[in-house]
Amino acid sequence: MVTEATAGSANGPDEPQLAPVVRVDLPAPPAFGRGSGDPGVALVTIDRQSVLNALDAAVLSALAAAFRRLDADPTCRAIVLTGAGTRAFAAGADIKGMVDATPATIETAGGFEHWESISAVGLPVIAAVRGFALGGGCELALQCDLIVAGDDATFGQPEIKLGIMPGAGGTQRLTRAVGKARAMELILTGRSFDAREAERLGMVSVVVPAEETLDRALELAGRIAAMPPLAVRSAKAVIAATQELPLAEGLRIERRVFVDLFATEDQHEGMTAFIEKRQPHWTGR
Ligand code: HXC
Repeated sequence: MVTEATAGSANGPDEPQLAPVVRVDLPAPPAFGRGSGDPGVALVTIDRQSVLNALDAAVLSALAAAFRRLDADPTCRAIVLTGAGTRAFAAGADIKGMVDATPATIETAGGFEHWESISAVGLPVIAAVRGFALGGGCELALQCDLIVAGDDATFGQPEIKLGIMPGAGGTQRLTRAVGKARAMELILTGRSFDAREAERLGMVSVVVPAEETLDRALELAGRIAAMPPLAVRSAKAVIAATQELPLAEGLRIERRVFVDLFATEDQHEGMTAFIEKRQPHWTGR
């Protein structure tokens, strides 16, 4: 297994090198320890456990770099994103790094370009959430395409309690995921909610026993990684791009991309394999 460590905390030239804050495993470890890891699945782990994996500038920049690199790697077919330890996916943006910010400094140093890089990834991304996913941590999970939540997960947009509001997509993505009335209540009160409520609200794909969270996410990623990669990217891109469009426009884009997939070898292979009653062999072309 290749285990890489991406950028560590932002050390000065004379400071000792600190432990990496984001780890990348490609391939990911095997789900439930069975066999070898799926070669197409990458595991990205946020590791700042002493502060519940709070997202500072070093984490955001390392996450963005890791996602860009995996997105350009033809061997990678799906990404699982998780937080190290059992207490948190991420407890939000780092409050200590924001307390003295001004509009000008938050605009330039708020890491918005990293958030954009993370959401621009074309590969499917599955969040494996245990413990706290609050504020920017909840927004990071909402940026993922699917959320596998452990039954110990706690979600929330508590920014209002800090005198601010969600700034990395929470007002948009939470509202689209759960509807305006529920998003208003959650964002304006800042209250947390558990995994079962998140499931009822339609925000998470599945709730699983806490200790199985990562394995279930890896399993799901493995199933997606076994699908034809161009079709997977196309389907994700259309769903993501059309959320904010009128239905008619979304249907038009869906039609165009659907039609384009008939130019791929995988389309012919998939249908031929069905007719010949055999497993398809995907080439990604
Ligand atoms: C910095 C944080 C942190 C955060 C926790 N810690 N969350 N540090 N930024 N977001 C640190 C604590 O200071 C503490 O360090 C250590 O992690 C453990 O946390 P405790 O509070 O002691 O744990 P506990 O009592 O179990 O409470 C857990 C918690 C609480 C409920 C998650 O930590 C909490 O409310 N955290 C803040 C959650 C939040 O408001 N998130 C939104 C941030 S704003 P020390 O050194 O003190 O022991 C945001 C905006 C996004 O995300 C905008 C993006 C553009």
